[in-house]
Amino acid sequence: MLKHAVLSVIIALGASLGSASQAMAAAEPIQPIPSAKIKDAGLVELGKKLYFDTRLSKSGFISCNSCHNLSLGGTDNLKTSIGHNWNKGPINAPTVLNSSMNLAQFWDGRAKDLKAQAGGPIANPGEMASNHELAVEVLQSIPGYVAEFKKTFGTDKVTIEEVTKAIAAFEETLVTPNSRFDKWLKGDKKAINANELAGYKLFKDSGCTACHNGAAVGGNSFQKMGVVAPYAATSPAEGRVGVTKDEADRFNFKVPTLRNVELTYPYFHDGEAATLKQAVDTMGRIQLGKQFSDDENAKIVAFLKTLTGDQPNFKLPILPPSSDATPRPTP
Ligand code: HEM
Ligand code: HEM
Repeated sequence: MLKHAVLSVIIALGASLGSASQAMAAAEPIQPIPSAKIKDAGLVELGKKLYFDTRLSKSGFISCNSCHNLSLGGTDNLKTSIGHNWNKGPINAPTVLNSSMNLAQFWDGRAKDLKAQAGGPIANPGEMASNHELAVEVLQSIPGYVAEFKKTFGTDKVTIEEVTKAIAAFEETLVTPNSRFDKWLKGDKKAINANELAGYKLFKDSGCTACHNGAAVGGNSFQKMGVVAPYAATSPAEGRVGVTKDEADRFNFKVPTLRNVELTYPYFHDGEAATLKQAVDTMGRIQLGKQFSDDENAKIVAFLKTLTGDQPNFKLPILPPSSDATPRPTP
């Protein structure tokens, strides 16, 4: 009997604690970003080198950083990216910052994680235009890399598996904590001003957080671009339907993270919105059926700019030199 009573108290306490913490978590639809936890510093360092190495491209000119420039918020600030031979791609490059928090990679989610993604651009004819065999051959011919792969993976043979694993491990460190908004979330009420706070309230009360929520303020669902009114896209991208083949997913795109959105212009999968003002206006109209006044729009934009966090901060990697045997770049 007593045992039963104690058990009920424990269950009740557990339930109330559970709902209290749920209530706390539910209080704000956005949570602060935790700092990156580096598990294997050697692996991250190798991935950093590969991220900056133009020799992974056929031309010897393009690296991951060409299109996901870490001095520019992890993007290229172009409508759509420019790849091999000045090839103008069909779609806007999303930021790599906080990309580890995405439910999947690419606008249509066709890569399940960062490792699966990283092999893509190396062999994409419109991006780096190399292929996995050539990329591996290049790395295998560079003694500095061979030694580093050996130290990291314990083998003499470089594989594309290891390459993508290392790049993904580096990307996992590209998180941006300590934005002013995160400081506010953690209790520093002076971290954002009254105008920015009014913008946050508008963002929340208008329904933006239905899709842009969680620690990344997005990145965790696919949604229709044009819920209330159609969007006249300028890109051929069809969205998630390309992956699922389900017509209901036509023109559904991964909701982008709004972290560092001040830095990642232009906006939308076709890069058609040059400014945040434009992007907020479009979102209001076509996702929520709301026409924001100039004042409301400016407040929301002011709030969005509080989402800029600590940018990656590291020593520029110095890459090991090619050897006489290294395949040279070709046009
Ligand atoms: C998408 C990383 C090279 C242009 C992505 C994404 C990641 C990434 C993580 C998905 C982000 C997201 O969905 O939120 C890398 C890495 C590269 C690399 C590790 C080097 C191996 C490049 C290059 C270009 C480029 C060289 C430009 C020529 C793009 C574009 C997308 C994209 C346009 C969006 C494609 C789509 O969604 O269909 N990249 N990238 N990337 N990247 Fe890269
Ligand atoms: C894209 C803000 C409401 C889903 C964006 C972007 C911004 C933004 C700035 C561009 C980000 C980038 O390209 O990097 C807002 C604001 C909202 C709002 C201020 C409230 C007024 C919503 C809602 C949904 C949604 C309610 C879901 C129904 C999306 C999607 C994209 C996007 C799918 C990518 C669309 C594409 O490029 O095709 N949002 N958003 N947003 N948002 Fe919103």
